[in-house]
Amino acid sequence: MYIETIDYRPSQACQIDQARAEAVELLHRATAIYTAAPAVDQLLEKIDWPREGRRLVDPSCGDGMFLERALSKLLTSSQPTRLTATYLLSHVEGWEVHAGACTEARARVAATLCRHGYDQATATEVAESMVHNRDFLTDGPQKPVYHVVAGNPPYLRWVNVPPVLQELYSSHVPDFAASDLLHSFLERCSRSIHPDGQIALVTSDRWLFNAGAAGLRAALGTRLGISHLERLDSSSVFYRPKCRRSGTPPRVHPVSVVLKATAAPPQRSQELRVLTEQPIYPGVDESLYEGLPTLDQFAQVRIAPWLGSSGIFVVDEETATTLPSEYLVPAVDTDDIVDGRLCTPRRFAIRTAPGVTPCDRVIEHLQRHMYRMAARGRRGTFWLPPETFHRMDLSRETLLVPRIATSPKAVRVPPGILPINHNLSIVCGEPGVLDRVEAALRSPLAAQWVRDYAPRLEGGYFSLTTTLLRKMPIDAPFA
Ligand SMILES: C[S@@+](CC[C@H](N)C(=O)[O-])C[C@H]1O[C@@H](n2cnc3c(N)ncnc32)[C@H](O)[C@@H]1O
Repeated sequence: MYIETIDYRPSQACQIDQARAEAVELLHRATAIYTAAPAVDQLLEKIDWPREGRRLVDPSCGDGMFLERALSKLLTSSQPTRLTATYLLSHVEGWEVHAGACTEARARVAATLCRHGYDQATATEVAESMVHNRDFLTDGPQKPVYHVVAGNPPYLRWVNVPPVLQELYSSHVPDFAASDLLHSFLERCSRSIHPDGQIALVTSDRWLFNAGAAGLRAALGTRLGISHLERLDSSSVFYRPKCRRSGTPPRVHPVSVVLKATAAPPQRSQELRVLTEQPIYPGVDESLYEGLPTLDQFAQVRIAPWLGSSGIFVVDEETATTLPSEYLVPAVDTDDIVDGRLCTPRRFAIRTAPGVTPCDRVIEHLQRHMYRMAARGRRGTFWLPPETFHRMDLSRETLLVPRIATSPKAVRVPPGILPINHNLSIVCGEPGVLDRVEAALRSPLAAQWVRDYAPRLEGGYFSLTTTLLRKMPIDAPFA
């Protein structure tokens, strides 16, 4: 007797679909931050749309706010003429990779049409055709199809994109646009617009000045220039879909930007700000800093060494009493700065040097505590810290600048004390120079410069990197 065996295990294709669906769910959760109507309306005011025959797309439309506002604008501008479904579909289009968000976008589009007098059946049918539940990076057009791209594309560092999608996207995204999904979207959008097209976006500001986006800026700049750029207030620009935790403002410093094809009519393209690999800082008046000397012209700026996990090369006062004093250097970190002044050091760094075996007591201490050392701090010669400081000249007073701060401020560090941990920069120079630098760092100009150029963190804080400090303009005269 023949008994048919049925294999109930999911087919390979089914497993691949399942894996992709899970990845899209993760992608959506990581990228769904929606744009509030007033910000969308302001951006739509900046573009040449609606106009007969010009097609607008939101390539990552979320729950459809850009589509709603664009449709409202189109329908209001055409009154009292009733636009046909064909006309609507050839002027507004949305893409959304997440099925749930796509359903919400369609519902929003249908509701907008009903508000403008369309019957429910027509509205539902148009919404269904207008919003595609598809992936713009893999399926989006490669040729010029649109006149306007409008939206708030997803931003997510490539390393955080689910591996299944990384694999899918890698063959569609050039290397220079692969470090963040926002870069990938910008690149793809730039190829999908006509020679007289525009890209109008609310985006995170980072791609405009990050060194890692220089290649992207240069590539975009071969076809596009900037016709509008403005900082936006992150507390009012966004709202979150229900699946995301509410209350916390998104970790992004948004701008509204309009990019315009440089092949647009010549008289217009002259108004465009050129886009090259050079960083662009939104809203900055560069003339404020013109002609001023920079910090690196008369002082050395270096980073405080990281000596590894605490308790090994950095010890407390009690442990220090058990070690020979000639190996110990008082050390300070940001928590030693109270009310703008440096407290008496409560820690000590153990100073060792390559090729010189320390005494038995130090060897014994290091061997006993080395198990605590983070993997990235381990070195071939176990008595050397991850970053050595034996050559550092500690004989002179220095200035110490916390690298995360609301404004640039320096604290005096007496000779013989070692600032530690990367969150501090050290400025070294002659005493007169230190006075000048200290005064310059306290000045309103320095505070403005940091607001203009330093990457923004949350809560009004900025990241003052060593590279940035070196380029800080100094306008305080010598004492
Ligand atoms: C930052 S939200 C913006 C939504 C909408 N444009 C707005 O401003 O309100 C980004 C949306 O892009 C979607 N998305 C992410 N990757 C996508 C892709 N490859 N293709 C289409 N949509 C994508 C996400 O699911 C998310 O809903």
